[in-house]
Amino acid sequence: MAELAGVSVRTLHHYDAIGLVRPSARTAAGYRAYSADDVERLREVLAYRRLGFGLREVAALVDDASVDAVAHLRRLRGLLLERRDRADAMVTAIDKELDARAKGLKVTPEEQLEVLGARLYDAIGGAYPATRRTDPRIAAQIWDALGDARTVLNVGAGTGSYEPADRDVTAVEPSAVMRAQRPADAAPCVSAAAERLPFEDRSFDAAMAVSTVHHWGDPVAGLREMRRVARRVVVLTFDTDEPRWQDRFWLTRDYLPEFTDVLADFPSLAGMAAAIGARTEPVPVPWDCADGLFEAYWRRPEAYLADHVRRAMSVWTRVGPEPERRAVQSLRADLRSGRWADRNGDLVDREAADLGLRLLIA
Ligand SMILES: C[S@@+](CC[C@H](N)C(=O)[O-])C[C@H]1O[C@@H](n2cnc3c(N)ncnc32)[C@H](O)[C@@H]1O
Repeated sequence: MAELAGVSVRTLHHYDAIGLVRPSARTAAGYRAYSADDVERLREVLAYRRLGFGLREVAALVDDASVDAVAHLRRLRGLLLERRDRADAMVTAIDKELDARAKGLKVTPEEQLEVLGARLYDAIGGAYPATRRTDPRIAAQIWDALGDARTVLNVGAGTGSYEPADRDVTAVEPSAVMRAQRPADAAPCVSAAAERLPFEDRSFDAAMAVSTVHHWGDPVAGLREMRRVARRVVVLTFDTDEPRWQDRFWLTRDYLPEFTDVLADFPSLAGMAAAIGARTEPVPVPWDCADGLFEAYWRRPEAYLADHVRRAMSVWTRVGPEPERRAVQSLRADLRSGRWADRNGDLVDREAADLGLRLLIA
């Protein structure tokens, strides 16, 4: 097995010892015997390792019962395409800079940073598919709001969560990394930004945008663009109008007050609604929300201690490593000491929570 997989026998023994890949049987002579399922698991482990995941992260990925072999292959394919895209982008940027330097031209800081692919989702998007997927209850609310729309534009579409399978969907997504991770059978995806949608007026029955408006450079301009190209607009966003909105969720209230700064320039819900003539509807977050968004684990606090969970939530990258380290450390301590449970004991019986997610429907 070591020879076939191109790893040392010691590595296989180590994976066995830590429970990462346990061969199902032993031969009479005491050798480890790997079944077809063991080989599949070993292949997944080695592929994630090669992509740079740590052993603990790999264990969490391969132990995720909701992900089957095909989903693992899709995810690995997306991660590899992302890596290839990023390498291609770096080569192009390096060529451009070499060319400029050869001509004696000055290189701006923006041009230098292009080499690193500075855009947020090109940097963090690779971690997205690990936990981000359609939650059926949130999806039902969004699809209901789409009404009888047959043609649907999904703006800031990411990897395609919440795209209704029974309608004719066109996706818009500016990040190459996110586009590369869309499943092979996902709706066609155009590279563009919300603020300038490359479509004629009223091209679609409906336009939807889920968990993306807070990333747009100009949210109101993007919403108006959606209004222009579609008869109906459905947007899942966040309410910061309520005074002390930070206190709605224990994570921002007690551990990550810096979240407030992240949304400091975000337009008010009332302002966004007024821009497109929308009504608003609360979107409760189910206690077992399948989509690993920032609020998803309000009743499962241990989840926030896992790196792969946090990496799929842009908030943590936006607040920076120091507040993240402090928040995680202090949450871990409170979970151990029982302080978290004392403060949040009322949550255990709740099925869903209103944590400020809102649907704008116009
Ligand atoms: C949190 S993800 C949400 C993806 C998807 N809608 C979902 O629910 O899983 C946010 C997405 O918004 C995209 N985005 C960022 N700026 C954008 C812009 N100006 N216009 C459209 N999409 C944008 C990001 O690239 C990213 O894929």
